[in-house]
Amino acid sequence: VRRTGSRDRKTTPVYRKQADPPELWEGKIDRLAWGGAGVAHHADGRILLLKAPLALFPGETVRAEVRWKVRHGEGEVTAWLKSSPDRSQPGCPVAGRCGGCELQGAGDEAEVLKRAMVADLLHRQFPEFEAWTWHPAPPEALRHRIQLHWNGKELGFHARSSHRVIPIHRCPVAAPLLSEAIPRLQDAIEGGVLPRASQRWELVTGSPANRVWAVDERDRAWTLEPDGWSRDEGPVRHRHEEISLKHRPGGFFQVCAPWAMEAFGKVLLGWDLRGETLYDLYGGVGLFSALLGSRFARRVLVESEERAVDFARTNLAEAGLSVEAIAEPVETWLPEALGQAGDMILLDPPRTGLDPVVRERLLGAQADQMVLVGCDGAAFCRDVKALAPAWKLLELSVLDLFPLTHHAEFVARLGR
Ligand SMILES: C[S@@+](CC[C@H](N)C(=O)[O-])C[C@H]1O[C@@H](n2cnc3c(N)ncnc32)[C@H](O)[C@@H]1O
Repeated sequence: VRRTGSRDRKTTPVYRKQADPPELWEGKIDRLAWGGAGVAHHADGRILLLKAPLALFPGETVRAEVRWKVRHGEGEVTAWLKSSPDRSQPGCPVAGRCGGCELQGAGDEAEVLKRAMVADLLHRQFPEFEAWTWHPAPPEALRHRIQLHWNGKELGFHARSSHRVIPIHRCPVAAPLLSEAIPRLQDAIEGGVLPRASQRWELVTGSPANRVWAVDERDRAWTLEPDGWSRDEGPVRHRHEEISLKHRPGGFFQVCAPWAMEAFGKVLLGWDLRGETLYDLYGGVGLFSALLGSRFARRVLVESEERAVDFARTNLAEAGLSVEAIAEPVETWLPEALGQAGDMILLDPPRTGLDPVVRERLLGAQADQMVLVGCDGAAFCRDVKALAPAWKLLELSVLDLFPLTHHAEFVARLGR
């Protein structure tokens, strides 16, 4: 126990228990759990969840630093003692240090590993439901939006589970135009052309990727011209087949935008969804309303960010679609007994999933179709289960919208 400081040093010292040093452990990874952890078993049967700076393959033997909790251990892999023959040379110079892509080192097998994690999660959460479909990312699925950090000296990504900046000069998983803009952004910040005070920067491009914006933490945007950065509030435009959507630089849009539009379109149109009113909740700038187009007679879009709602109105008007667009949090807007037979409620909440009030209200909704989208598998499964008293899981697609990470997009069709 070490004295670590006090509010009033004379009278109330504060003591904190010093953490025990981690235990060194060596053994085999049995399988991958949702979230990317390798699951292993200690000799006494206790489970170990192991994180690693690069992809882990089931069957590999590793050395790890482990801390024991009440019933299980958690650790960090520090060395590979026997590597999988499927392991490949990472295609990125900062793989293993940067926190961006934890499946680096798995090459083409990354998709296989992620699918196994998804299978593990779904089997545990919905053992009766086996008919889910998996949509792997094509090689051209690159990020159209990246978040960088400036520490006063260097520009880069955060290291895994840390705020330490790993300097980045290019990013092989970003659209080439974004990657090439990274050193231009660093030069402009260093030279004082762009604000040095901003610690967080977003680089974003449209689809096709023909113009780059840099957005600072105060939401001010600059676009990159041949002679440097100039103030420009956008909009960023994404085109996919008949659809054209605009958003403000710094506003939400899918990270791998062209692939996301293609994949969501494939799934939603494949389910042949149609009806009277579409309630597009957490609707952003109108992606799902636009994809479903005239398959629904009417649209109501609810989104908390006012500027996104303005874009949704113009995006859908330009697509020839009328919409009642409401700038309000879903949890305060959602009425009792929403909709009626023939209507569909589509929900695409942020990472944390549905608010408890929203889950409760949806149990009494009168619409008879629902689509739930979730980018965090655990929150998504929790929400599907919470809706089960009123809503039955009918179809489930999992889209690899975030290649080389353990993240995936879950899309469920539910019926009353
Ligand atoms: C995962 S994004 C989905 C956006 C849109 N469906 C798309 O795919 O482009 C979640 C959206 O919900 C919005 N949002 C966050 N919390 C909200 C809330 N409580 N009520 C309504 N919208 C919310 C965010 O601004 C964001 O646009």
